[in-house]
Amino acid sequence: MEAVMGVDFDPGYVRARYRKLVSDHPDDSVYPLSDFRVEWGPIFHRGRLDGTARVLVIGQDPATHEAICRRILVGEAGQRVQGLLARLGITRSYVLANAFLYSVYGQGGGERHVDDPGIVAYRNRWLDAIARDNQLDAVISLGHLADRAHETWRATPSGSRCPAAYATVLHPTYPESASRRGQITKAEAFARLCTSWNEALVALHPLITQDVPTPLSRYGTSIARTDLAAIPACDLPAGMPPWMRSLDAWARRMGTDADSKRATITVSIPKKARTWPAVD
Ligand code: URA
Repeated sequence: MEAVMGVDFDPGYVRARYRKLVSDHPDDSVYPLSDFRVEWGPIFHRGRLDGTARVLVIGQDPATHEAICRRILVGEAGQRVQGLLARLGITRSYVLANAFLYSVYGQGGGERHVDDPGIVAYRNRWLDAIARDNQLDAVISLGHLADRAHETWRATPSGSRCPAAYATVLHPTYPESASRRGQITKAEAFARLCTSWNEALVALHPLITQDVPTPLSRYGTSIARTDLAAIPACDLPAGMPPWMRSLDAWARRMGTDADSKRATITVSIPKKARTWPAVD
């Protein structure tokens, strides 16, 4: 178990502009309940809000683990992205924001609402604040909805002033979603993901002020467990147990029908983290 003393944590929304953004967040009058899990609350970001970010990652929408941790991209998708950042030599100087504040519910909600004026206006306030506060070397978007969010923002006067390089890549869960739709095998989809992420690595690697000197190394044809990186303690609110940042899944939507499944997330401590004395 990690010692309690000296454990880092995310201090939260301490700067006035983020405090204001968080308290102004849109509700179900902007994000319709038919298409978003507004009942689980808005989830805003992950990473540095202290002006030290060099890379901004734009994701899509929060999922199950994020609803518990109150930070985005902490589950498997987030750990794939954390591995991508590590290959860029970035272990701390990043900030992540999603295209949507709430988890998309059902099919097509993301496509239907990515350009909604209320959603765009609030998202652009976040992107403006991040671009103003940080010396960004690069922006990376994950998937086409995040790419659309980026494009919409860069078309604004403040977005157009951001000098950071840009790369859009396939979303980290593309292999699972594309193979589930039957378009492609999972192995082929992983190979496509790796090609897309390698292209971004090659383009961005020379442009980034690294936290840790890291020579360029490309992915193979799949993302192995060793290509994932755990979420650092400094990214989660104070007091989160270390297993919530680990590579093992610990949260699942459960229910016997759509209604109870929407209402329930079951949290289960991974076996490896059950360090208490055996009980019979
Ligand atoms: N979790 C997020 O917060 N964003 C994504 O894009 C995927 C998973």
